[in-house]
Amino acid sequence: MAKHLVTLIPGDGIGPEITRATVSVVEASGVDIEWEVIKAGQSVIEQYNTPLPDYVIDSIKKNKVALKGPLTTPIGTGFRSVNVGLRKALNLYANIRPIKTLPGNGARYEDVDLVVIRENMEDLYAGIEFEKGTAKTRELIETIEKLGEASIKDDAGISIKPISVSGSERIVRFAFEYAQKHKRSKVSAIHKANIMKHTDGLFLEVSRDVAKKYPDIAFDDKIVDATCMSLVLNPHNFDVLVLPNLYGDIVSDLCAGLIGGLGLAPGANIGDEYALFEPVHGTAPSHAGKNEANPSAQILSAVMMLEHLGEFEAAAKIYDALRLVLSKGEQVTYDIKRTLTGSTDGAVSTSDFGQAIIEAMGA
Ligand code: NAI
Repeated sequence: MAKHLVTLIPGDGIGPEITRATVSVVEASGVDIEWEVIKAGQSVIEQYNTPLPDYVIDSIKKNKVALKGPLTTPIGTGFRSVNVGLRKALNLYANIRPIKTLPGNGARYEDVDLVVIRENMEDLYAGIEFEKGTAKTRELIETIEKLGEASIKDDAGISIKPISVSGSERIVRFAFEYAQKHKRSKVSAIHKANIMKHTDGLFLEVSRDVAKKYPDIAFDDKIVDATCMSLVLNPHNFDVLVLPNLYGDIVSDLCAGLIGGLGLAPGANIGDEYALFEPVHGTAPSHAGKNEANPSAQILSAVMMLEHLGEFEAAAKIYDALRLVLSKGEQVTYDIKRTLTGSTDGAVSTSDFGQAIIEAMGA
């Protein structure tokens, strides 16, 4: 029997292509993994009437670890988000997104090395929404007005932003524990507490309390809009950032831009029992089926997975080979080629990029 049994969700759009390249690279590293390949998303909706059939959750609960490609959330079919559904069903409350400069990709900054830790279960992103003009929304508006809180227009839709003490404590503690484990020196809590006093204000208050329990790690806090500006001006001032869900979503894409784009930004969703590894990016529909997308973020997500499984040697082997291929700048996908030369001429395919990494591993 294989040493590790891992659920593999190839996903939609570019997902199958980038996960195929990733699996080849992981297997070439010599690590002993048996993949349980599970379909989810767009390709199963017709058959199961849901993008997230129970067997997906069952497989991850059984194997405890999953590697996932991006999934499409179909618009207008009543499904809010497949990804949010998956994170909620498995209580994957912490989203880790390391943002580290890779060589030779033409990114605007050198030596960026920070980590975005995003709360995954609460906030506006939890998706408690009320559609404009419905009876429920009218009732909610009346209640809010009765409580004397505000007057809301009749034609407004409403989203609810729950942020709890327990949810905030859990993610901020996770950020400090992560900082300790990975020898990081500072945690910054990112918020908009000056305006949203009872939600972001609560997150900030809890962050300050938790920070007192970790005197060996520096702590500061920053307002989210100022954070965006500072990240663009000087990303080297940041170390570990901990953010409520929606800011975490937005700021992590900004951070991916600092290191050369979404094709290079990996991620992990972690809970107390299960772990699911996936790139920050989505299904990139315009590149789907063309074998041209960059599999680096997916491969780096697999590297994070291997570290989680204790397979440090295989993880390092893949990481070093990826760096080697990127640093040469020859066998790279269209996105990197375009950044480097202003043209996609000479770009290699997704599968050839994977093959170049495999060859570099042998070198
Ligand atoms: P996206 O991340 O798919 O694409 C944004 C831009 O980045 C596009 O220009 C795309 O071509 C480029 N890009 C993304 N990944 C790339 C890669 N590996 N190589 C080269 N270029 C890459 O975001 P978008 O267009 O907003 O969303 C498309 C779909 O993906 C939606 O259905 C959305 O719901 C889904 N999505 C899924 C996620 C997940 O499964 N975790 C995360 C984000 C979006």
